[in-house]
Amino acid sequence: MKKIAIFASGAGSNAAKIIDYFRFHTDIKISLVVCNKPGAGVLDIAKKEDIPTLILEKENFFRGSAYLPDLNEKSIDFIVLAGFLWKIPVALVKAYPGKIINIHPALLPKYGGKGMYGQFVHEAVVAAKETETGITIHYVDELYDHGQVIFQERVALTPDDTPTTVAEKVQQLEHEHFPKIIEAVINQAGRK
Ligand code: GAR
Repeated sequence: MKKIAIFASGAGSNAAKIIDYFRFHTDIKISLVVCNKPGAGVLDIAKKEDIPTLILEKENFFRGSAYLPDLNEKSIDFIVLAGFLWKIPVALVKAYPGKIINIHPALLPKYGGKGMYGQFVHEAVVAAKETETGITIHYVDELYDHGQVIFQERVALTPDDTPTTVAEKVQQLEHEHFPKIIEAVINQAGRK
């Protein structure tokens, strides 16, 4: 059984889809929800689903390996960032080489980097009058929104689109694709 930790900072709509997708999976289990924000919606979801949670404290987290014992204790094999807004420290990237993936709500390398998350991304896309946007699922390395791209999907935009409607279109893509890509990546890693 491969054990996954979902790292999330917000509402957790992606986390909810992922949890649902793997609910009866024979080889993959969501074993932990990790969050940096007490009170975040994702914690309610985890509680309702009976999934253990871990709340991160900022200084400890950025020290690098402070939370590795917690991940080891739960035998976490793989980390999925689903709307997690802190940069992953190098020590954690090194402890999980090729085993941390992130979803970004735009077509990287466009609209990535520090400060580019959630609604800020969609506002920038609309301001630039883009005719399309999309999602990027990628491996996590030491830099923000930088690691090797695993999957992208596009969606067309019209001049009437607002940051809110762009967010809806992008969220639909995220919910449709993210769980399946996680499954494919873990299966592939298992075969290596
Ligand atoms: C998602 O759209 C995800 O792509 C984005 O945060 C949202 C979380 O929504 N992540 C980033 O912007 C990372 N740079 P959710 O809490 O409903 O899953």
